[in-house]
Formats: sequence, structure tokens, C-alpha cells
Amino acid sequence: MKKNFRFIDLFCGLGGFHVALSKLGGRCVFASDIDPDCRQVYKENFGLEPRGDITKVSEKDIPAHDVLCAGFPCQAFSKAGKREGMTDPRGTLFFDIIRIIQHHKPSYLILENVRNLVGHDDGNTWRVVKEHLRALGYVFPDEPIIFSPHMLGIPQFRERVFILCRRKDVARRSLQFKKPLKKPECNADKILLKGDGKTPNISRYALSGKEMEVLSLWNEFVQGLKPPLPTFPVWTEAFAEGSRRASLDNMPAWKRSIIRHNRELYEQNKNFIDAWLKKCAACAAFVGAKAKLEWQAGENAKPDMWENILQFRPSGIRVKRPTYFPALVAITQTSIVGRLRRRLTPRETARLQSFPDSYKLHPNDRVAYKQLGNSVNVEVVRFFARQLLARVA
Ligand SMILES: C[S@@+](CC[C@H](N)C(=O)[O-])C[C@H]1O[C@@H](n2cnc3c(N)ncnc32)[C@H](O)[C@@H]1O
Repeated sequence: MKKNFRFIDLFCGLGGFHVALSKLGGRCVFASDIDPDCRQVYKENFGLEPRGDITKVSEKDIPAHDVLCAGFPCQAFSKAGKREGMTDPRGTLFFDIIRIIQHHKPSYLILENVRNLVGHDDGNTWRVVKEHLRALGYVFPDEPIIFSPHMLGIPQFRERVFILCRRKDVARRSLQFKKPLKKPECNADKILLKGDGKTPNISRYALSGKEMEVLSLWNEFVQGLKPPLPTFPVWTEAFAEGSRRASLDNMPAWKRSIIRHNRELYEQNKNFIDAWLKKCAACAAFVGAKAKLEWQAGENAKPDMWENILQFRPSGIRVKRPTYFPALVAITQTSIVGRLRRRLTPRETARLQSFPDSYKLHPNDRVAYKQLGNSVNVEVVRFFARQLLARVA
């Protein structure tokens, strides 16, 4: 691909595609996002003001481009047309991508979506996407490319589908995309701000007194149990005498199985758990999802909550090894670095998405976390775009 190729950034968000393609010599000629906060941040960083709702933008108003990028929202396509053998994607945002491609016929397309796109709506969504892209004269690997930043040594597990397409008549050797040969080591520390404690406002991300109390109780729990550590969800309510006697008959099988495991755990550690529960009863914050534990750091891991990555989730407190962080999401479940007794800062979260430190984030943390949770990982895009755009010598 020639230097200074032109690309467009649909559903641009923070501009993960923009950063990646600029690094490869591309120039963005159009962007769009319906969210005013995204548009504001985008303009501030790139000096380009994205247009709003793409459904309201005529394809004729979009400049010519070589590469179309889109991390589009995943929506079910109407099944109304199924009987005719072709499902109608009209009314979905994918259709807006299709009408832009139809008009401009760019040489390359880089589309990204959640992993679930492939299984979504019993495979119908993926089939419709493929049919439409092929009908417009694009080639791409038949098998979906599922890739996560941790495969490049970036400490985030975030599986996404990448659809890398080339217009049929554009010369290139093959459509095979290389993945890294060796599994790189991941270390969560890699993205942490250095000189912790000296970073301004870092105390804002510290665990609250109540959170510290709850996590300390759970730390006592994992340290006091007879090994191995429980890898099933621990539900303290199942330890109570009344619950231990309750019938499991009218429960779904998955729930029955969890409660049985909890009852066995209780029987094996009865004296310790009884004493521990008394301490928990004195902690007002030890209720609901905070009274549940999802130890996912392995049954033989060192029994120490603080050595791991923690998350307060609606299903319980999740514990993972400090190799890579769970996928960032738009809702607030920001990961906690146990060792530092604090949550990731927005800047660290931006590093998980491989945005450079010079990138100006939204000043409101809640908005910044949401935007980063929706964003694409810059280095993953660069990894594939470099291969897609390489021309036959
Ligand atoms: C998965 S995010 C894409 C993030 C982006 N690739 C990035 O690097 O940050 C999807 C984006 O589509 C935007 N969006 C949803 N509906 C839209 C519409 N009708 N027109 C334009 N943008 C839309 C959302 O505001 C959101 O920012």
C-alpha cells in the first residue's frame, strides 16, 4: 500500500483504528460517531471533527478512500427475508457500512466486532455479513479471525473478531494472516504507572475502607482453607445452617451443583468457616455479591488475594492471576491491582488498549473508562492492517 493512503473511521469512538493506521502512514479523511463525548475527544486528539449518526450521512458526502475501518455495534439482522434465502440487513448499522462500500468500493476493509458476532443469532449474523461482503466483490478468509491483545504480549484478554477484506481485483499474494509463532509472556505490571504513590491523584483510585475490609476477610478465607482452593463460585449464604438443610429439588442443575460444592467445602472446613463467618457478620459491607467469591487463579495458586487481579462483579469478587487483565468493558467493573490496593487509572486502561501516553483522555473518569471499554486495541489493528495492506512486491 502506498504511503499516505486514505482511510475512513466509522463508529470511530476514541479512534483506535485512527492511531493504528496513522502509524502505518495512512491519513484519515472521514470519521463518524453518534456519541458527542467521543466526537469531542476525537477532535481534540486528531483535529478532525467526526460526523454524527451514520444513518443520517449520505455516502455521497463521504470522501473517496482506500481503506474502510469499522468497529460496528453487533445487532441481529431481521429474519423476515429468510424464506427467500437471503436475510435482509436493512435497518441495521451493518447496512450503513454496506451502502458506503457499495458506493466507494475501497480497496480494503477492516471490520471488528465482539467474538459473539460469529455465534450470534445461531450463526445467522455471521452468514449475512459474509454474503454481503462477497456479493460486493471482497475476499477474506472463510474462517473468522479471533484475536486478543494478550496474544501479542499486551496484558489484556479481549477476544474480538477481525474481518480483513481485500477487493478481489487488488493484487496480493495470499489471504493468510500470520499470528505470532510463540506465545508471548504477559505481565500485568507492564502497563502500571511507575513511581506509584507519587503519581498525582493516584489515591483517588485506592480501595475504600469497606472494600479493604471485605477483601481482607476473603484473604483470611483463602488462607484458612484446607487446599486445594475452590475453583467453583463460593457462596457464603450456602454455609448457613438453614441453607445447608434446604432442598435443592426445584433448582436448575448448575445452581444445584454450585450449592453441593459449597456444602462439601463447608463440611471439610467446618470449624474454620464457622469462626470466619462470625467475623463476616460483623462487617456491614459483607453482603450480596461481596459475600461471593470467584477464585479463578487456579486451585494450587498461592492463597493470597493481594497477589492477584481483583474485580467486584455482580456475580461476586473475581480473582485472576496477575498475567493479563480481563477485557475492559463499558460498564464499571474496573480491575483492581491487589498488590497496590487500587483500581487501574484511566491512563493504565488506555495502555491496555495500546493508546500512546500522549493521547488526551476525556477528563471525566467514568466517561474515559466507558470509551476505553468500547475501543479497539491499537496494536492488534496495526498487527493485522500491516499484513492486509502489504502489496505484492
Ligand atoms: C464498539 S464502539 C467502536 C469503538 C472504536 N473502534 C474505538 O476505537 O474506540 C462502537 C461505536 O459506535 C458508535 N455508534 C453507535 N451507533 C452509531 C451510529 N448510528 N452512528 C455513528 N456511530 C454510532 C458508538 O457511539 C460507539 O462509540
